[in-house]
Amino acid sequence: MTDRLTIRRPDDWHVHLRDDAMLKAVAPHTARTFARAIVMPNLTPPVTTMAAAKAYRTRIVDAVPAGADFTPLMTCYLTDDADTGEIVRGHAEGVFTACKLYPAGATTNSAHGVTDVRNIRGLLAAMERAGMPLLVHGEVTDPAVDIFDREAVFIERVLTPLLRDFPALRVVMEHITTAEAAEFVAGHGDTLAATITPQHLHLSRNALFEGGLRPHAYCLPVLKRERHRLAVRRAATGGSPRFFLGTDSAPHEIGRKQSGCGCAGVFNAPFALESYAAVFDEEGALDRLEAFASVNGAAFYGLPVNEATVTLVRGGAVVPARIGEVVPFHAGERMEWRLAV
Ligand code: NCD
Ligand code: ZN
Repeated sequence: MTDRLTIRRPDDWHVHLRDDAMLKAVAPHTARTFARAIVMPNLTPPVTTMAAAKAYRTRIVDAVPAGADFTPLMTCYLTDDADTGEIVRGHAEGVFTACKLYPAGATTNSAHGVTDVRNIRGLLAAMERAGMPLLVHGEVTDPAVDIFDREAVFIERVLTPLLRDFPALRVVMEHITTAEAAEFVAGHGDTLAATITPQHLHLSRNALFEGGLRPHAYCLPVLKRERHRLAVRRAATGGSPRFFLGTDSAPHEIGRKQSGCGCAGVFNAPFALESYAAVFDEEGALDRLEAFASVNGAAFYGLPVNEATVTLVRGGAVVPARIGEVVPFHAGERMEWRLAV
C-alpha cells in the first residue's frame, strides 16, 4: 500500500475566490496547495474588462500570505455585448487567460451572462483565431428542461453546434457531472477538455437528501445519479489527458446556504487535493493523480508544468465543522490523506 506520494505541485483550473472579506478568508486555502488557479469572474459586477481583471488580480495577490508561490490566472465574464477588441487584446497582453461563458440565469451571478451563443459569434471566431480558451458552464437554462438533464441537453443544443462552427476553438466543459459529458469529451478531438470537482467524484444526488435536506452538498451543476458519479470517476482516473482538476470551490456564508433559498456552491478548497487523493486511492489509480492534478490542465492551456512538488501522506485530519463563516466540504470527516508541509 502506498503511504506517501510526491507529485508536481497541482493547479486548480476552476475556482471562485470571491472578493473583500471572503476573498481574504478563502484565497490562502487555494494558495497553500495550488501553484496557479483559473479564477472565475462571477463577481458583482462581473469581471468584463482588462482594468477590472487587473485590479481583481492585485486584490487576490494581496489576499494570499506574503511569499506564497501562487499565480491567479484571470478570466473574462462573457455578456451578450462582450467587447471582442478588449478581450483579444487582454489575452495578448496576458491579462485574460480565458473567457467564461455562463448561460444567463444558469447559476450564481450569471444574470449578466449570454442569453444566446449566436450573440457572441464574432467574439468566438476571434478567440478561435487567437487560441484563447472558452470555458463553459454547460447547462441549458430552459425551465422546461428537468434540472438533472440540463447538462446533457446543453451538449446537444449548444456545445455540439458550437464545436462544429468553431472547430479550432479550445473549449473546457467545466465541472462535468454526467456520463453523457464524460463520453462526449472523451469522444471529441483534442480541442475539448473538461474539469472535474471533488464533490462530483464523492457524492451522488442521494447526498442532497441524506436524512433531511443537505444544503452544503448543493452546487451547480447539481449532483447526479450514482451511475453518473461512477462515469465521472472513470473519466478522472482513467488516464485521458483531457480531464483535469478544477475544484469549483464556491464558498457562501453559512446563512446563505442554510436558508429558504440556499445558494449553490461547495467550499472544498481547504482539503481539495486530499479529497481527490482519496478518490484516486479508492480507484487504485494513485499513479494517475499527478497527471490529472498537475500535468493535463497545464498542457491543455499551453503552459509549463510546475517544477515544485507536494507530498501527500496517509493519515489525515478531521475536517472542521466550520472554517470562518463557511462550512467546508467533508466537514466532520477524517481525511485519508494529508499534505505534508
Ligand atoms: C458557483 C458560485 O457559487 O459562484 N456555484 C456552484 O454551485 N458551482 C457558480 C458555478 O460555478 O456554477
Ligand atoms: Zn464554478
